[in-house]
Amino acid sequence: MLKIAVFVSGRGSNFQAIVDAIASGIIKAQINAVFTDKDLCGAIEIADKNLIPVYKISNLEKPGFYSYNVITELLYKHSIDLVVLAGFLKKIPDSVVEEYKNKIINIHPALLPSFGGAGMYGMNVHRAVFNSSAKISGATVHFVDKVYDNGRIIAQEAVDISDVKSPEEIAERVLKTEHRLLPFVIKKISEGKVEIIDNRVIVH
Ligand code: GRF
Repeated sequence: MLKIAVFVSGRGSNFQAIVDAIASGIIKAQINAVFTDKDLCGAIEIADKNLIPVYKISNLEKPGFYSYNVITELLYKHSIDLVVLAGFLKKIPDSVVEEYKNKIINIHPALLPSFGGAGMYGMNVHRAVFNSSAKISGATVHFVDKVYDNGRIIAQEAVDISDVKSPEEIAERVLKTEHRLLPFVIKKISEGKVEIIDNRVIVH
């Protein structure tokens, strides 16, 4: 069975969507570890409730936190096959990206390659989309490479935002889509239905 590690920094609603999809048997996988850069957050509470070990990580020396240098070791310790970034705000170290090439995915709350990159997270994304007057936004799940929001796109779903009155309204609509799209991609990966052919990601 696919063994997953989820990286989180916030409320954890995408993490919860994965937990639910596994609990209901939609995805045949298990979440063996959660990694976070926060001391407290909603996602940690979800992990605790589900008895999933939580590793606090920091790129600085911080009491109670593991160093970034040991992330790969911890992933190996749990025999992790897939790393899922579900609202993780920090950059994954290059060494981990190299070691887990095409095995790390991220959910982004817009249609990449627009509205991505450093600083484009959370409400910043939705504000930029709102201010651009774009009529469509959506969610993207992509492989993670060494550049923020740059890896190959696995799946996207568009959301009509032509009638929204605020960035918050965009966030609300896109989040619902994220909660469908991320479990969908994990399910496909767990079934071996995601392939990279000639530099394009094919989902069967
Ligand atoms: C989501 O919109 C995700 O796409 C973005 O940060 C938000 C995290 O929300 N990267 P949650 O913690 O999953 O509720």
